[in-house]
Amino acid sequence: MAHINESYFNLKGSYLFSEIARRVKAFGKAHPDAKLIRLGIGDVTKPLPPAVIEALHAAVDEMASAESFKGYGPETGYEFLAEKVAEHDYGSRGVKMAADEVFISDGAKSDTANFQELFAQDCTVALTDPVYPVYVDSNVMAGRSGEMNENGRYERFVYLPCTAENGFNPALPDRHVDLIYLCYPNNPTGAVLTRDELKKWVDYAREQKAVILYDAAYEAYIRDPEVPHSIFEIEGAREVAIEFRSFSKTAGFTGTRCAFTVVPKEAQAYGRNGEAHGLNALWFRRQSTKFNGVPYIIQKGAAAVYTEAGQAQVRGMIGDYMENARIIREGLESVGLNVFGGRNAPYIWVKTPEGIDSWGFFDKLLNEAHVVGTPGSGFGPSGEGYFRLTAFGRRDQTEEAVERIRTRLNL
Ligand code: MLT
Repeated sequence: MAHINESYFNLKGSYLFSEIARRVKAFGKAHPDAKLIRLGIGDVTKPLPPAVIEALHAAVDEMASAESFKGYGPETGYEFLAEKVAEHDYGSRGVKMAADEVFISDGAKSDTANFQELFAQDCTVALTDPVYPVYVDSNVMAGRSGEMNENGRYERFVYLPCTAENGFNPALPDRHVDLIYLCYPNNPTGAVLTRDELKKWVDYAREQKAVILYDAAYEAYIRDPEVPHSIFEIEGAREVAIEFRSFSKTAGFTGTRCAFTVVPKEAQAYGRNGEAHGLNALWFRRQSTKFNGVPYIIQKGAAAVYTEAGQAQVRGMIGDYMENARIIREGLESVGLNVFGGRNAPYIWVKTPEGIDSWGFFDKLLNEAHVVGTPGSGFGPSGEGYFRLTAFGRRDQTEEAVERIRTRLNL
């Protein structure tokens, strides 16, 4: 008899964004004339930069001739891209990174979900709350969560509440943990950490022999010079941190799929007898077994992001999205809502009005303004009473959404 991995029974009903899509579809069916504006899932709306398009076309043409055709590529990415990442994303910030510490992949979502496979089932996992649900669900599937209690928390996870009271900057765990998921700039709160704040985490992880899984998918949105773009800007982080980055939100690759995970040679975890094992070699082993690499064409497109033209175009795109963030932030503040984030991140985290919970505000926005957002409670119990909007919409739609919220919402 094929028994099921019963850990799957511990998952909540459905993945957050699938649930939102289901509700929005039902609303659309019932109100076919409603002109919905979607500021829910953080999906980009601007086309790929011209430099990327040009490189993609050229790479397609290479595939048409026997001399330049490419079959299987290296599972962990072509050197031409890994070297550019090491040089531009790290070297330019004074961080030394070798190309074989950069693993090119098809997304930060899959990498943040898969990396936990390298660790034992009895590892204790610490998660900020609210949090990107992928870190939670992938560890539930792997059997590290235990069951969910009546407060919506899994019994074996260590939750690190991020609320307005602590400035969305979580305290260190009050006990030993093995794996720590951090995401900065934060999805969903839009909060960031300074170097000193991040150093506390690195020091804690070194002391506890823990590993930090650091999701920096939104680093390109950082404006404040005091905010580190990479955890590897912090001394000692190479021993204890893995960093996930993506071209999705930086260069419009959500549908094109290209990302990378950085695993320094010094990063370690431990066997039952306390002996150290390098995570770089283990991740290489895992990827070369389970992954066949990102298509050559796509990697060529990603490499074009690092050309002078690509860099200028990407800066322009990000600047436009950040202008959306300003429009949303100021528009919502003007009707008396309490708004966070949106200054170093493309997410705006809104306190729901008194007496309305997260899903209540989702319904209100959908029904009264025909605007789709994301209920904060979908990101964890401490997200209750909050709501997330993204700055990734089209400008005209972002302005229209803010106008509808200002004029149609009975607050
Ligand atoms: C989000 O809306 O939180 C993100 O778009 C989800 C993702 O990147 O997978």
